[in-house]
Amino acid sequence: GTNTYDKMIEAHELLRQFYHHLLVNTNKGQEALEYLTRRNFTREMIDHFQIGYCLNEWDTSLKFLKSRGFSEELLEKAGLIIKSESNHQYFDRFRGRIIFPIFDMKGNTVAFSGRVMHKGEPKYLNSPETPIFHKGKTLYNFYQARSSIRKKQSLVIFEGFADCIAAYGAGVDNGIGAMGTALTEEHVHMIKRNAERVILCFDSDSAGQSATLKAGELLQKAGCTVQVAMIPEAKDPDEYILTHGSDAFINKVIGTSLTFMAFKMKYYQTGKNLKNEGDRLAYIEQVLGDIATMDNAIERDVYLRQLADEFSLSLDALKQQERQLYYMHK
Ligand code: UTP
Ligand code: MN
Ligand code: MN
Ligand code: MN
Ligand code: MN
Repeated sequence: GTNTYDKMIEAHELLRQFYHHLLVNTNKGQEALEYLTRRNFTREMIDHFQIGYCLNEWDTSLKFLKSRGFSEELLEKAGLIIKSESNHQYFDRFRGRIIFPIFDMKGNTVAFSGRVMHKGEPKYLNSPETPIFHKGKTLYNFYQARSSIRKKQSLVIFEGFADCIAAYGAGVDNGIGAMGTALTEEHVHMIKRNAERVILCFDSDSAGQSATLKAGELLQKAGCTVQVAMIPEAKDPDEYILTHGSDAFINKVIGTSLTFMAFKMKYYQTGKNLKNEGDRLAYIEQVLGDIATMDNAIERDVYLRQLADEFSLSLDALKQQERQLYYMHK
């Protein structure tokens, strides 16, 4: 017989196909298709990522799956339907939204995220944790990008669905999405097992930058070579590609990725005025603290010299302070 786990996956597989069909083949999906077209999502991208649309109705998905033999109990546990508190009737979780299916490492559809087309909260509605979906162990597009990631021994991490998809359209076939959450240890292991080098390409706002710092530290600790691609003049990679184009994204964003250390040196400057002595000393101390954690003596020397040059300091004094921090943290 088929177990609950397989049944839940089967329900998701059927819905993924149904939602994709509604988007690309029906009049009711027309507005959603126009929305995606305005955002430069091509038909090839829509098919590749199996994007769909769910109708703005209360129980279309429920009826669709019930007629195929699925029980309400199973569908509720799978996160696809919700029981109303007031009349105890079941209704669809996803209604009137653009649907992004989420695959596990075997390529099974295990969850959905639905984006509103106009204003509305939340912007993205996600499947809950279920027996088949664990957010902390899932990375968007990892299944489809895996062979390219392994071949290149590198991957690019984005914050969002749209970034990952737009970057794919721009030629980045080794991109994955963190789906707006902090990277977990499990995520880091998945990444480390498949690639040696990681490029972080998060949103340019302060949330994106502090997420970059945290993710970078975790990945570096796991032994990955970390780089950071910064997004100038746009809020995120998707918006950058929309306004500046694919070539600019490849050459000026991905192509000019910073080392993680160079990123941190920029990051530590935010909110500081380096002409102010106190800020300057605090900044130098932060950078020295990072240098003190480096295993490689040559690398330490490179950054110490850079600091000495930048602030006209004596290399000896910097070295002395760096060693002091090194022994303090040992
Ligand atoms: P963003 O707010 O940066 O959205 O969240 P976005 O990816 O740029 O979306 P667009 O371009 O407006 O369509 C980044 C990611 O965080 C998750 C989603 O995975 C999103 O892609 N998120 C965001 C949620 O899960 N729920 C939300 O309400 C918002
Ligand atoms: Mn198709
Ligand atoms: Mn963001
Ligand atoms: Mn964004
Ligand atoms: Mn965006």
